[in-house]
Amino acid sequence: MNRRLVAPVGITATGQCFPAKVVTNEDLSRTLDTNDEWIRTRTGIRERRWAEPGTGASQLGAPALRMALENRGMEASDLDLIVVTTVTPDTLFPSTACRIQEMVGATNAFGFDLNAACSGFLYALTTAASLVAAGGVRKAAVVGVDIMSTIINKEDRATAVLFGDGAGAVIVERVEEGYGILDFEHRIDGSGGEFLFMPAGGSRRPATAETVANKEHTIHQAGSEVFKNAVREMADNSRLLLDRNGMKGEDLGLFVPHQANIRIMDAAAKRLELDPSRMMVNIDRYANTTTATIPTALHQAREAGRLAKGDLVILSAFGAGFTWGSTLLRWAC
Ligand SMILES: CC(C)(COP(=O)(O)OP(=O)(O)OC[C@H]1O[C@@H](n2cnc3c(N)ncnc32)[C@H](O)[C@@H]1OP(=O)(O)O)[C@@H](O)C(=O)NCCC(=O)NCCS
Repeated sequence: MNRRLVAPVGITATGQCFPAKVVTNEDLSRTLDTNDEWIRTRTGIRERRWAEPGTGASQLGAPALRMALENRGMEASDLDLIVVTTVTPDTLFPSTACRIQEMVGATNAFGFDLNAACSGFLYALTTAASLVAAGGVRKAAVVGVDIMSTIINKEDRATAVLFGDGAGAVIVERVEEGYGILDFEHRIDGSGGEFLFMPAGGSRRPATAETVANKEHTIHQAGSEVFKNAVREMADNSRLLLDRNGMKGEDLGLFVPHQANIRIMDAAAKRLELDPSRMMVNIDRYANTTTATIPTALHQAREAGRLAKGDLVILSAFGAGFTWGSTLLRWAC
């Protein structure tokens, strides 16, 4: 049974924002025991953007949303809802959605933050689209933003090289029949929590001088465990969507996977029997920006003319939790 929304809802505009500062693999190899060749061949990353210290998620999220609004020809006051997805909010509360609402002047919106790590954008898109389909919300924005440079241990070569900062935003509204979100499949499995997490800073282990000294406010990851699960779930989940909608990999105009590792992405594309030219890749320039990878990849695909109205698209992600999911759309703009 597919998970069709009760009315056709899709993405009608995109935007993005990255910090100006480029950090190359060469830059990192000056302070870490690593090198460009290892990072490129094991991950596909050449460079990433890191924000200046003191930059909050809202400072990238708000410009990304302004760009999406401008691309749609909409005023911020037209928005009914702002869903921000992030693991690096400006503050635990108030939400980053409140900050962004104020910065863009969305005077008629409600909103909230949603945390599903790297799957956050997909969950937020489904949440916003379902509210629009139900009729209570006419126009929604989803902003995916992470400032990963604030939560990586810059002395740990196994994680420091993998992540970047960025923000992507989309506008979500009713579209023509047959367009927009056609189906989705999302899952969580808390038994994977121990493989990718930040140990301290929450209610279970509040910040103390000791947690700071132990670098417990940074990402802890069992890379190969995450890798194995990501390949399996992203591929199986995307395949499921194709099969139950009577489609084949060759029917897809674009496959937009979460950009965590080029080897994970290639393995998923292979399982879908997809022509590699149909996969959107930007991990080489931006690394893993967590929840921002998919909306920024969509924006860049639009700008490059790789995404046209009517194209079938699968978005697919996997992340901490474990969380994972895929969404099938017929591109609506
Ligand atoms: C992290 C990741 C790139 C590591 O690649 P890998 O091929 O699994 O490498 P391993 O972890 O087995 O490490 C192999 C060796 O490389 C070393 N290594 C790790 N990072 C390194 C770096 N930046 N530079 C050089 N060597 C490095 C390790 O210390 C290890 O050395 P050892 O064999 O002497 O112990 C990979 O596991 C991965 O991408 N996992 C998924 C991460 C992810 O997607 N996270 C976010 C979820 S959305």
